[in-house]
Amino acid sequence: MRTQSLTALFVLLGATNVHAINNRHAHKRQTPPPAASGTAIPPIESITFGMPTKSAPTVTATFSPGEAVPVSGAPPLPTPFIFSPADWPEQDHIPPTDSDEVTQWMKELDGFDIPNLNPTVDGSCVNDTAAAADAANRGWWTCGGHTRGTDIVACPDKLTWGVSFDDGPSPYSHEISVHTWSHKHLTALTNEQIVAELGWTRHAIRTVLGVTPTTMRPPYGDIDDRVRAISLAMGMIPIMWTRTPDGGQFDTNDWKVAGGLVTGKDSFATFQNILSNASVIDTGFIVLQHDLYEITVDLAIGYTLNAALTHSPPFILKPIGQCSNTLTGNLYFESNQNATFPYTNQTEGGYDFDGDGVVDFKTGKGGSNAGFTHSIPTLGVTLLVAIAVIMV
Ligand SMILES: *[C@@H]1O[C@H](CO)[C@@H](O)[C@H](O)[C@H]1NC(C)=O
Ligand SMILES: *[C@@H]1O[C@H](CO)[C@@H](O)[C@H](O)[C@H]1NC(C)=O
Ligand SMILES: *[C@@H]1O[C@H](CO)[C@@H](O)[C@H](O)[C@H]1NC(C)=O
Ligand SMILES: *[C@@H]1O[C@H](CO)[C@@H](O)[C@H](O)[C@H]1NC(C)=O
Ligand SMILES: [Zn+2]
Repeated sequence: MRTQSLTALFVLLGATNVHAINNRHAHKRQTPPPAASGTAIPPIESITFGMPTKSAPTVTATFSPGEAVPVSGAPPLPTPFIFSPADWPEQDHIPPTDSDEVTQWMKELDGFDIPNLNPTVDGSCVNDTAAAADAANRGWWTCGGHTRGTDIVACPDKLTWGVSFDDGPSPYSHEISVHTWSHKHLTALTNEQIVAELGWTRHAIRTVLGVTPTTMRPPYGDIDDRVRAISLAMGMIPIMWTRTPDGGQFDTNDWKVAGGLVTGKDSFATFQNILSNASVIDTGFIVLQHDLYEITVDLAIGYTLNAALTHSPPFILKPIGQCSNTLTGNLYFESNQNATFPYTNQTEGGYDFDGDGVVDFKTGKGGSNAGFTHSIPTLGVTLLVAIAVIMV
């Protein structure tokens, strides 16, 4: 989650960085990562808005086009490409819905029963009292924390933290997931706009990394049954963060430090509360953290990860795919071997979101991304793009 002043979602990286991200698939972390070389984690008191920033650490490993990806069944790394703005929607804006791409991606919804809910006013509860009053029916997370069985909201095993960082990527990550093109409240968008947001992001990640995520995280957690059904129809399972029964969120507020609203010390105190709650719940958990800013990376690398590892009792840190017992290959369309993941071929008739015995999400076709065109640009050497949640 970000404040208005924190907007650069479209992350442009040198090709080397992109390949370094890929490399993280290969290195399953057993111990907390060291701080990036040449950088020292500042004392927590000095982690605040306006702190001096260091230059970005240099990339320690690069990978060549055509090199194998360390995910079984995934295609080799695509040929690097030159980013041409004309080929992509405008950064930080909802992509147009009248493009050939979106028209094609809309066909992925054919045969699926997308709930006929009007978009919310702006994804907030206060500005749409009618939708807020109906939040339980809509399965709207933002107002009351409503989730469905298709959402990943925690790791199943107690004391296990499924670590993720939103808004990156950065060179600290492996598993990768879709986090939308322009970071809007998805419940406030039309079906076509949601498809455009998810479709372009998925396409960008695939174009650079060669794999298409089968998971997504809605910005601000703003999801309801319509957004959920569209995501599932397009082959992406929503990953949320954990809430306590009293409605408290496992949100570190690190984004508020980057936005100048709270201090690093405040954010860390919030995280310590999260850990104390996390040690008494019956499942593991997922926390909202970000890797878009040096501030939030310093907090994670220097403080929160260590606090979890040295906690008594200690927590086990895993990527969310691993903690939820999903084979790494199934996190990507190209290497997915599971016909019923992510719920696109439930031949028994669909998925019952709210457990009332009535199928809410009807599946009508076999296999996700049937109409998804995989075009790989063939030129060059420069950058990419990925608008992603990274699940370390
Ligand atoms: C509600 O709407 C007002 C007026 O458009 C806007 O300023 C405010 O940010 C909105 N509130 C939220 C929580 O989005
Ligand atoms: C966790 O527990 C503390 C008390 O130890 C409480 O103040 C806090 O609101 C709880 N909720 C979350 C989400 O951390
Ligand atoms: C396939 O996916 C379904 C639905 O997510 C899951 O219940 C099942 O355990 C998965 N099977 C394997 C072998 O991973
Ligand atoms: C759906 O999956 C089942 C087994 O999981 C398979 O037998 C069936 O052929 C699949 N249907 C389609 C349309 O792919
Ligand atoms: Zn975000």
